[in-house]
Amino acid sequence: MKLIHQKDALIPLVKERRTPAKIVGFVPTMGALHQGHFSLISKARSESDLVVVSIFVNPTQFDNPDDLENYPKNLDKDMQKLKDRFENLIIFAPDIQEIYGTLPKAEHFEFGILTHKMEGKSRDGHFDGVGTVLKKLFEIVRPDKAFFGEKDYQQLVIVKKLVQLLDLDIDIIGCPIKREANGLARSSRNKRLTGQQREQAALLYQSLQKAKRQFGTKRIVDIVADIKMDFERHPEFELVYFEIADADTLATVQTVEKNKKYRAFVAVYIGKEVRLIDNMALN
Ligand code: PAJ
Repeated sequence: MKLIHQKDALIPLVKERRTPAKIVGFVPTMGALHQGHFSLISKARSESDLVVVSIFVNPTQFDNPDDLENYPKNLDKDMQKLKDRFENLIIFAPDIQEIYGTLPKAEHFEFGILTHKMEGKSRDGHFDGVGTVLKKLFEIVRPDKAFFGEKDYQQLVIVKKLVQLLDLDIDIIGCPIKREANGLARSSRNKRLTGQQREQAALLYQSLQKAKRQFGTKRIVDIVADIKMDFERHPEFELVYFEIADADTLATVQTVEKNKKYRAFVAVYIGKEVRLIDNMALN
């Protein structure tokens, strides 16, 4: 296990360990590591010869300074968790200056309709921030494959678009969502929930399962209206959106076509403060 803070140290190390036959796998994270992140690292291990994990809380993807401030950060604890589970990873944990210089600023990307909805609509500039940091990290690490969770499905679709726009030769691999026993998707933000909220938050998973059961038997508008009512019955939640969309284009749909893939997406605030998202394949 090697912990590196400077890109000038990382670049030659990856170069030295990369021989023509070796696949470099990359797992970008913002730390506060949990089973979701570990599943990505395991997948990266099984599909590459050298695995780089980055831990960097990226300021340009937060539209809310309080959210950035409250985001859990503990590098020592993350390192311990990684040492307990893996061997021979390269951990890249730069500070803000190392990535952005003195002024953290997001570049604008033409992601089109992909960013106009759901997380893009709710969180101004979020995906430009994600695109900016990943472009920089991809340039430093130069991976052959990069691993992303379906937990942030919209992000996964946008990262695929990013490598297309930048003409990068990186395979973007989507990995399944890891959940707690009650179905709540694992997230660094779950740390900020009380025990009771953690139980209540199972409603997100239940709503997605309900949409999946009803998909193909009821009209989309009726499924969505039914689920919105379920959330209204639970005042501890503020529903930000519940949408059924084309899994490739993310366009919201009213009718279903054969041979297309659809997903349901949900975002809520629980207890006014903590924002949770989840999604599920419907067919
Ligand atoms: P972060 O939220 O730390 O997530 C890092 C990766 O872990 C993402 O690809 C995310 O989808 C995946 N992940 C999180 N929870 C998961 C779960 N329950 N099951 C499976 N995968 C899960 O996403 C980011 O960081 C940032 O936006 C980043 C890509 C690092 C850019 O700053």
